[in-house]
Amino acid sequence: MSGHKRSLGVCYYPEHWPEAQWAEDARRMADTGLTWVRIGEFAWGRMEPEPGRHDWGWLDRAMDTLGAAGLKVVLGTPTATPPKWVLERYPDMLAVDAMGHPRKFGSRRHYCFSHAGYLEECRRIVMAMARRYGRHPALGAWQTDNEYGCHDTVISYSDAARTAFRDWLRGQFPASGGNGGDIGALNRAWGNVFWSMDYADFDDIDLPSLTVTEPNPAHSHAFLRFSSAQVARFNRAQVEMIRAHSDAPIAHNYMGRVTEFDHFEVGADLDIASWDSYPLGFLEDRVGASAEEQRHFARQGDPDFQAFHHDLYRAVGRGRWWIMEQQPGPVNWAPYNPAPLPGMVRFWTWEAFAHGAEAVCYFRWRQVPFAQEQMHAGLLRPDSQAAPALAEARQVAAELVEARESVPAQAPVALIFDYAADWAWKVQPHGRGLSYFALVFDHYKALRRAGQSVDILPPSVRDFTGYRAVFAPGLMQMPDALKAALAGAEAEVVIGPRSGARTADFAIPLPLPPAYPGLGLTVSRVESLRPDMPLAVVGGGTITGYREELESPTKAFFTDTEGRAVAIRQGRLCYVGGWGDAALLDRLVADVAARAGLETLALPYGVRVRDTGAERFWFNHNPHAVETAAGPLPAAGVLRVPR
Ligand code: GAL
Repeated sequence: MSGHKRSLGVCYYPEHWPEAQWAEDARRMADTGLTWVRIGEFAWGRMEPEPGRHDWGWLDRAMDTLGAAGLKVVLGTPTATPPKWVLERYPDMLAVDAMGHPRKFGSRRHYCFSHAGYLEECRRIVMAMARRYGRHPALGAWQTDNEYGCHDTVISYSDAARTAFRDWLRGQFPASGGNGGDIGALNRAWGNVFWSMDYADFDDIDLPSLTVTEPNPAHSHAFLRFSSAQVARFNRAQVEMIRAHSDAPIAHNYMGRVTEFDHFEVGADLDIASWDSYPLGFLEDRVGASAEEQRHFARQGDPDFQAFHHDLYRAVGRGRWWIMEQQPGPVNWAPYNPAPLPGMVRFWTWEAFAHGAEAVCYFRWRQVPFAQEQMHAGLLRPDSQAAPALAEARQVAAELVEARESVPAQAPVALIFDYAADWAWKVQPHGRGLSYFALVFDHYKALRRAGQSVDILPPSVRDFTGYRAVFAPGLMQMPDALKAALAGAEAEVVIGPRSGARTADFAIPLPLPPAYPGLGLTVSRVESLRPDMPLAVVGGGTITGYREELESPTKAFFTDTEGRAVAIRQGRLCYVGGWGDAALLDRLVADVAARAGLETLALPYGVRVRDTGAERFWFNHNPHAVETAAGPLPAAGVLRVPR
């Protein structure tokens, strides 16, 4: 695989600062060694202060000023912040929460993806921007909207969503003549005979909220699939407008642990995936870390959470991905907002490059003294003096002079991530707190503790050539073609728990799961467990939270202390019938690695490695120095060793 350049950038809001300051800002950005500057994504109110009256003058001058300093602009479409006049034009464009309350104006993302009028309004502003700036010499790339899904905005229970959902369902259950939908087919597929829930017409179907007890899980899961499709459709409409007038690549900035829409589907319409990495902001409530880990990593961030998303978005971008927003200091929005350990901004930047990022952009250039994010650090303080992160960005820029090229390489291990599986677990977790994301992340962490570099793959992949091991835990709906591809892969394959546990229409399949060719296994019963009732496994580790009873003539290779099967293997295919704790997953990874001939590493706590085609990186996430096989590493230390 050929190499690519690594570069740095920053997010900038010219509309927040006096115009007289722009040229000096641009000069300092270039002087710091930055290449990219992202602008525009919240400035609709300044681009079009009144319906149809555009004010491009300031943006023209901003683009020209930044370009004159040698910077390349990433231009964001401003559709995450529709100004008040848009809402006055379409009072019903607001997203509606599950309690039926419309979201209000006064912050951002106050729109419903399904609202036809709003989508039209977005097409208009994006088309106007693409026409004006699509061939501007300073333009380097586009960003659509900002952080789809941020602030819980994918799911909307609005009237517009209800109408669109009914139409979408008609498409899912088409009538044989192709005219409208077959409501009988939907009733049968969902099992609506249960509790007399049959519908006479698609227009009788409501959104699955405010029911007395849970709605039909088939109904809920269909609504989550629909909601995801609406995001992809919304994004696609913008992409079409941009492509009509511009050849610059198009990105979107995704987030950490946002799973409400299928990023692979959105990514298929884009050229670059990017994501917004806030390692300290995430640690408290997105990572799932224990209180002790949160304390230990409070100023460094979780050792695996960022890496997981780097690997995920590398897959979403089909190899091309960026950090669009990198935390530069304390943020304003997490439960607690500590400052990073000195060196961490440089460390996070190199970690992203080690996972193949083309560019890392810091959020933001200067801390803004007004409005919602006045407590959010930037590379500069509000008084334009350097904040601590500026020197670290400058240091990376200097280091890139001799390490600019990155050589990608296929990792030896693959891990499948399926957004629809996350929705399925959400609809039917079976036990409090059981989450598909957490299950996959637990496997990822175990692989990383053993020193593995991992490729994350979408569930659509059928060719596993080159991988020595493939992990696919928790895929509740598994198409036969994926089962066959995994069964035929020249790799050690690990599946379960809950593999193929539901049909596409959310029923228990017959024959019973996992119905896997050649495995000779039936999951005869499932149970969820209180967190305080782990089941000990012979040889070490426990099953925690979720457990399956496995019926198979094959002798189990892990059993619990009561002699019941925990994991069985036929040839290269292994099924694990429960959620293993860290100790059990470490044993599983060691077992698979030995069979697959993978090199494993005994890493000190908090140390991780990542291989590119030309380098092995070592990262010390601890707040203290450690000894590694590659040499001593200080706190926040990074080692780059040629391979
Ligand atoms: C991101 C968002 C930015 C800014 C940032 C603050 O979620 O895209 O606009 O709000 O968080 O950390």
